Amino acid sequence: MTKIGILTGSLRKAAYSKKVANELANLLPVRMTPVFMEIAQLPLYNADLDDADLVPAWETFRQQLDDVDSLIIVTPEYNRGMTGALKNAFDVGSKRQNHWKNKAALVASSSPGTIGGFGANQQVRQVLVTLNVIPVQRPEVYLGHVNHLFDDQGLMTNPKTIAFLQTAINAFVSLQSRLKTPADKVAAPLMRYEPGRFYIRDEGGIVLAEIIFHDQQNKRIRITDVQVSELLREPETTDQLILRVLRFAQIHQLTIIPDADQARTFVTKHPKYRRWFTLGE
Ligand SMILES: Cc1cc2nc3c(=O)[nH]c(=O)nc-3n(C[C@H](O)[C@H](O)[C@H](O)COP(=O)(O)O)c2cc1C
Repeated sequence: MTKIGILTGSLRKAAYSKKVANELANLLPVRMTPVFMEIAQLPLYNADLDDADLVPAWETFRQQLDDVDSLIIVTPEYNRGMTGALKNAFDVGSKRQNHWKNKAALVASSSPGTIGGFGANQQVRQVLVTLNVIPVQRPEVYLGHVNHLFDDQGLMTNPKTIAFLQTAINAFVSLQSRLKTPADKVAAPLMRYEPGRFYIRDEGGIVLAEIIFHDQQNKRIRITDVQVSELLREPETTDQLILRVLRFAQIHQLTIIPDADQARTFVTKHPKYRRWFTLGE
């Protein structure tokens, strides 16, 4: 499994940049596991304390960086730059040895303003040069008017924005596979996401597999239908579809009502995922 470290520059609980990061994590292929990394607990970098080994949180963060293969970085903009918290995290991770190096990164910025945090995004890219992190060049991701992109449950609703973020994730996956080991290069059918559905289609646009789920409010979603063409491998494809919805639920802290036979079978087959499902409704 490839691990993708996800960092956001905001410390705010309801941060838009965290919601954008959730959406990007949701669009990753199943073989890539999102690892949400906290930076709020990192004291401001001070080489005297580092030399005396006085801040365990710095070392923990460095180990977490060593443990992930690549990065998704979402920054808000503070005074035309990145946040102090994010710059501090870059500094902490760069000392003792450079714990950022040789990773691929997708950089995204967001703002309620019109220019989508362009200044912050460019500043992050500038720092990545010296850290020897290779960023996705295009598409550049500057999300303006970010305060209008989410519903009450914190879910992104605009299919055009989701499709745009998917192109950014596809570029990131392609960059990552160029940089990393052959095991990461396993070809898998591309799964797409639209609000309420994940699906796979062939080159002609025919849908070969899909899972439908409805937003139920009260932090619940209901899986109502799973369809898989006999051209695709079973039960792997059904499991992949359900795992995508499961990860969607985990990211957005929702529970799932399995209102389709395949989803109920999945829970029986994989009891370790049971706590994400509400049975008997
Ligand atoms: C100290 C500070 C400086 C800011 N400077 C900018 C700025 O330069 N450009 C901008 O678009 N928004 C700026 N904002 C507004 C932020 O974009 C807005 O608060 C945003 O919601 C913060 O991101 P978050 O929702 O991820 O926490 C600033 C906010 C703060 C607190």
